[in-house]
Amino acid sequence: MAAAAAHVLVFPFPLQGHINCMLHFATALVGAGVHVTFLHTDHNLRRLGSRAPSAAGSPLLRFMSVPDGLPDDHPRSVADLPELHKSMAGGATGPYRALLALPPSLAPGSPTPSRRAADAGADPTGGFPPVTCLVADGLLPWAFDVAEELGVPAIAFRTVSAGSFLAFLSAPKLFELGELPFPAGGDLDETLRGVPGMESFLRRRDLPSFCRRPNDTDDDVNPALHALVDLTVHSTKARALVLNTTASLERSALAHIAPHMRDLFAVGPLHAMHLTQAAASGSLWLEDDGCMAWLDGQADRSVVYVSLGSLAVISYEQFTEFLHGLVASGYPFLWVLRPDMLGANQDAALQEALAAVGEDRACVVAWAPQRDVLRHRAVGCFLTHAGWNSTLEAVVEGVPMVCWPFFADQQMNSRFVGAVWRNGLDMKDLCERDVVESTVRGAMESDEIRRSAQALAQQVRRDVAAGGSAATEFERLVRFIKDLTT
Ligand code: UDX
Repeated sequence: MAAAAAHVLVFPFPLQGHINCMLHFATALVGAGVHVTFLHTDHNLRRLGSRAPSAAGSPLLRFMSVPDGLPDDHPRSVADLPELHKSMAGGATGPYRALLALPPSLAPGSPTPSRRAADAGADPTGGFPPVTCLVADGLLPWAFDVAEELGVPAIAFRTVSAGSFLAFLSAPKLFELGELPFPAGGDLDETLRGVPGMESFLRRRDLPSFCRRPNDTDDDVNPALHALVDLTVHSTKARALVLNTTASLERSALAHIAPHMRDLFAVGPLHAMHLTQAAASGSLWLEDDGCMAWLDGQADRSVVYVSLGSLAVISYEQFTEFLHGLVASGYPFLWVLRPDMLGANQDAALQEALAAVGEDRACVVAWAPQRDVLRHRAVGCFLTHAGWNSTLEAVVEGVPMVCWPFFADQQMNSRFVGAVWRNGLDMKDLCERDVVESTVRGAMESDEIRRSAQALAQQVRRDVAAGGSAATEFERLVRFIKDLTT
């Protein structure tokens, strides 16, 4: 019997860091001849406007959307993430179920609710084959359950590092050893034995932030930790787990995860995979290209690029501390200050920043074309929150990092940067102006860090090139997906 054409539904959790790497993944699948439907939320697809669908440029890729269950005018800020997580399950399940159950040839204009925001123009073939496989974000467990119930095999994709995934997987062991919950007032520098392969360098302060005691309650355990542990266990039941990482970065963590999974694919860094076509834009903010001209006017490796990702918000005190440290380091800087980052004080703070240093020495934008920035010859180091995408992007470009982690997996990523790969410095929990100044200088001026960063970049680029470990894993994954259709 001839195999049906493979058609993968790629479904990220609707946040920037999740969309970016899953969109690269979708583009790589399309390059391998697989049909892909990329599932946004209605809200995000509207926010992307014409950027996403019109740039897709392949008859094998189309964009569709489902509601996220929140009203249009909801801020969807970082504080609302638990609410978004819950509302997605309520708002999206019905349309999502209908989409998975669609007949093979979906006529444009179908009344199916989930189709309403789809880009019919991205489907010039007039119809996609039925969905043969789901690759969903591990934060959407209900999406797996619905797919398997309808006979569609489900693969889990986690956007965090293997190290962070392993930390969640190791939570029962951490509890058993008494290493979780953290004792009240305990020493955050205490080393841990509960995460296999990390005994020599992992401290309490390096575990994902959800392992810390909640600030405003007396509870021992952050409820988010239980939720993430449950999600991680749920991912072990999927047909396979896909991680945006590579063996040469995280060989040990991958080896410890593998026995828990039905199959495991390390296919990253996905943004650096050789793609036969450009990825469609998944940028929820409009990139300000003006900073590239500003960078052109700066000396080689002289600029500190500052970006704290898509979610972090900072207090005015943190902003001020940070600004003083940066100015005192003496280097020009390009700073991404999202409009929602500082709240009401943002405009005044910005004026103060520019007045303090002068416009020739500072460029502030709301959102930058980050990968182009990191590739620019003028960038000397990247001051980052150590989100996993940002970390991988800096690694691939061989740019030294200064890590100021905020939450979630960022604490773990910054430890790997500072203590394992040694391609940067970790300021974790010590973000005063003096520390900012000396750490930025350290990363800008250390030959050793630069050499480590460059060696790491070469290694990772070999992994994604033809015949490299990540490229080979990706080919194995495509075969795995195609075999699911027979
Ligand atoms: C967070 C987590 O920390 C991350 O590890 C997790 O996998 C997803 O949630 P986020 O704060 O969005 O993510 O950070 P990061 O993972 O670094 O992703 C940010 C993305 O936005 C990167 O791909 C980066 O290139 C892009 N970006 C950021 C821009 O394109 N322009 C900017 O100005 C800033």
